[in-house]
Amino acid sequence: MKQQKVRILSKKIYNNRYVDMWLENRFSEVPEPGQFVHIFTGSTFLRRPFSIGTCTEKDFRILFQIKGAGTRKLADMETGCELDIIGPLGNHFPVRDNLNEIYVVAGGIGIAPLLFLSSSLLEKKKRFKFFYGARTKSDLLDFLMPDGDYEKIFSTDDGSYGEKGTIVEMLKNRLHSKKPDVVFSSGPYLMLKEISSVCSRYDIPAYVSLENIMFCGLGVCQGCVIDAKNGYQRVCRDGPVFNHKDVIWQKKPLI
Ligand SMILES: Cc1cc2nc3c(=O)[nH]c(=O)nc-3n(C[C@H](O)[C@H](O)[C@H](O)COP(=O)(O)OP(=O)(O)OC[C@H]3O[C@@H](n4cnc5c(N)ncnc54)[C@H](O)[C@@H]3O)c2cc1C
Ligand code: FES
Repeated sequence: MKQQKVRILSKKIYNNRYVDMWLENRFSEVPEPGQFVHIFTGSTFLRRPFSIGTCTEKDFRILFQIKGAGTRKLADMETGCELDIIGPLGNHFPVRDNLNEIYVVAGGIGIAPLLFLSSSLLEKKKRFKFFYGARTKSDLLDFLMPDGDYEKIFSTDDGSYGEKGTIVEMLKNRLHSKKPDVVFSSGPYLMLKEISSVCSRYDIPAYVSLENIMFCGLGVCQGCVIDAKNGYQRVCRDGPVFNHKDVIWQKKPLI
């Protein structure tokens, strides 16, 4: 992990709200899927966290949704600008050698770290299915998914693309006939909570990438802690990827 300045190499904006930005890779260590970078956007003195959404030797991607002032400022930055980043930070999805059948489940912009994960699974020649759901067709960024030999299952809440319903329903439908070795998921908190409940019912190991407001991003300030079975856990340092069984799920999203 190192603080450094990296150049924006390219930027594309989809549907006025999703930004696919590629940055110079000047990492001092090789990032793993699930890790994130903490970026100074200039909107406040606080950095903003973004998952590493794919990484090559030369460059890496962040894929983000424009939400407030920080993401707006970042979206407005032009190719060639330098960004002050810290990373790679946090832990990663545990892809063990003995996993033969993996289900990857993305909800909305939660797809970002799972793009990196799926590229890495393809490189490792792992067998996996990719479940990807969003509210409506224009929220699906399926054209960013890596090419390769894996099954893709899409759903939208309004049925405008893929199957109609939530992606957790699509997952449940398939679990009746076959159980994977593990589920890796990222998306809205309440979706991850539901994944956790489904995986508990079917006794399937599952790992979820959680989000919380971050301050230092380095494990120092305790500002991002969540309630977990083994005490408080820092999303930035002990996560963002957690075993779903360790999380004490709340009624409302963390943020
Ligand atoms: C580990 C991690 C990885 C993330 N990866 C991605 C990603 O790959 N793509 C992506 O689009 N978003 C990602 N996020 C969320 C992203 O960091 C926030 O959307 C962003 O910080 C909002 O900044 P803002 O200044 O635009 O919004 P603000 O004006 O500060 O707030 C707007 C909204 O964003 C929420 N928000 C504010 N700060 C955070 C925060 N630190 N984390 C989450 N939500 C926040 C607020 O609750 C509010 O609803 C990630 C968050 C974490 C913790
Ligand atoms: S943000 Fe400071 S400990 Fe996580």
